[in-house]
Amino acid sequence: MFKKATARAHANIAFIKYWGNYDEALRLPENSSLSMNLEGLYTETTVIWDDEVSGDSLELNGQTQTGVALERVVKHLDHLRKRVSGVQGYAHVKSHNNFPMGAGIASSASSFAALTIAAISAAGANVPEYELSSLARLGSGSASRSIPTGFVEWFKGNSHETSFATSIAPPDHWDLVDVIVVVSDTHKKVGSTEGHQSAHTSDLQQGRLLHVSDRLQACKEALLNKDFASFASVVEEDSNLMHSVMMTSRPPLFYWLPASLEIIREVRIWRAEGLQVCYTLDAGPNVHCICIREDVPNVIERLKALSGIVDIKIAGAGSGAYILKAGDVSSQ
Ligand code: DP6
Repeated sequence: MFKKATARAHANIAFIKYWGNYDEALRLPENSSLSMNLEGLYTETTVIWDDEVSGDSLELNGQTQTGVALERVVKHLDHLRKRVSGVQGYAHVKSHNNFPMGAGIASSASSFAALTIAAISAAGANVPEYELSSLARLGSGSASRSIPTGFVEWFKGNSHETSFATSIAPPDHWDLVDVIVVVSDTHKKVGSTEGHQSAHTSDLQQGRLLHVSDRLQACKEALLNKDFASFASVVEEDSNLMHSVMMTSRPPLFYWLPASLEIIREVRIWRAEGLQVCYTLDAGPNVHCICIREDVPNVIERLKALSGIVDIKIAGAGSGAYILKAGDVSSQ
C-alpha cells in the first residue's frame, strides 16, 4: 500500500545562534539556541512511501534532483528508517519552497522539518513533538527549531534524545517582525554545514561559548517580558560574536558585504533615535532587521534610502510544522 502525507514548516531566524557541533554526525550543537519561526516563509513537502521502487527520489521546486541534495535527503530518510518504527521502504519526496533559494533565508530548517513530519506521518507512525524535533535535527540543526510553534528554544542536550527544541511562547506573544534585507541573492560559497565544522578552528569560539547560556537566558527573559532594549543588545551581541568566530576560523568566512555593514550601522543609529529595531545575520550577507510591527513602515522607508538593497521580505512570528494532508494514496 502507498502511504502519503503533505506537511508545511516555516523557516526560522535565530536570536541566539547555533554555530558549531560537539557531535557532527548527530548535529549535537555546542550551545543551546533561540529563534522565531517566520510566518509566510515555508516549505511544503509531500512524501509517498512506495514498496515497489528500489531507491528514494527527490523533486525540489519542480526539478528532479540527483546530486548532493538527494544524498542529504536519503541520509535523513535513513535516520528515520533506523530510528522510527513503521518507517520503511523507499520514498518519493516532492518539496517546494515559497521563498527563493539563496534569498538569505535558510531553507534547510523548513525543508528538514517538513520532510521529517511528512515522512513519519505518511508511514502512520505517532511520534511526540520533542522527538520529531530531535529527528529533524539530524537533517539540519536549525530544523529542530522549525517543529514547535512561535518562539522556540533548542536545548543543546547531551545525546540524540535530549537535544530537541520546544516552544517558549506562541506566535501572538509579541508582535515582532523580521524585515529581511536582501543585499545579495547569489548562493553562498560556504554553507552552514561546512561552517559548523570549522567553528572550533577559531580561537574565539571558546570565548563565544563562555557566556552563551547567560545570553540565552537574557534573551529569553527580554522576549518573555517584551523588553525590546534588552532584547536588541543581546541579539546584536550574539550575532556579532558568531560572525567574529566565522571571520577568524581557518579558512576565514566573511559573509558580510559592504551593504550589510552599512545597514548594521544605520540600524544602531535608528534605535538610538527611538525606533525599536535591531539586526542579526545568519551565514550570509543579508540583514534581518527585527522590529516591533508598528515601526515596520518607518524601518522600510529608511532602508529604501540606502544603496545595495536587492529585495525586502517581511515575516512575523509563525507556527510550528504541521500536516496538511495524510492518508493512503488511493484515498486522495
Ligand atoms: C548561522 O542549521 O543551517 O543560521 O545543521 O549543517 O544544516 P546544518 O546547519 P544550519 O545552521 C544554521 C546556522 C545559522 C545560525 C542559526 O540558525 O542558529
